[in-house]
Amino acid sequence: MAFYANDIDVLIDEPTLQKRIQELGAQITRDYAGKQLTLLTVLKGSVFFATDLARAIDLPLEMEFLGVSSYQGGTETTGEVRITHDATKPMAGKHLVVVEDIIDTGLTMQFLLEHLKARHAASVRVCSLLEKPARARTKIAIDYKGFVIEDVFVVGYGLDANEKYRNVPFIARMKGK
Ligand code: IMP
Ligand code: MG
Repeated sequence: MAFYANDIDVLIDEPTLQKRIQELGAQITRDYAGKQLTLLTVLKGSVFFATDLARAIDLPLEMEFLGVSSYQGGTETTGEVRITHDATKPMAGKHLVVVEDIIDTGLTMQFLLEHLKARHAASVRVCSLLEKPARARTKIAIDYKGFVIEDVFVVGYGLDANEKYRNVPFIARMKGK
């Protein structure tokens, strides 16, 4: 039995995730044909999604990573975000797709988009695997969206609960939560 079997229930299974990621990849391939695309992935949770998404895009893209850490106020982010790891290459003139695992309150992405303005990218779009609109505190235009989920705490496929469960291969909800 898997280590997580007693703790979680499947919310989005692997075939459903992979099918949707192939669709997003095909859409991005069409939209960025002939352009220099960079996937700017937000560490750490989005790495699992980003590597599958990158392989679903048929373009010579570049991968960059940005580490952010939100100051927590209770269980929820305060929207005050710190950059903990910066991209290694300049972003000026590049077409960026910011890859996120989940947009919850939207405050992290709002900060990030504001921060990116000073980098003078040619364009910036947002790709998020999940969106939890029930908790939105700011409107974020998500250009590429995997799934809309209800207001439940999810883990797996990169998403953690106190750093655990990232390696669960599907999106799950904690039992009894
Ligand atoms: P936001 O600023 O509230 O949109 O928060 C986004 C970040 O909070 C995500 O990048 C996740 O790291 C984390 N987060 C939000 N909801 C969940 C969840 O249900 N499970 C795990 N992490 C979450
Ligand atoms: Mg995150």
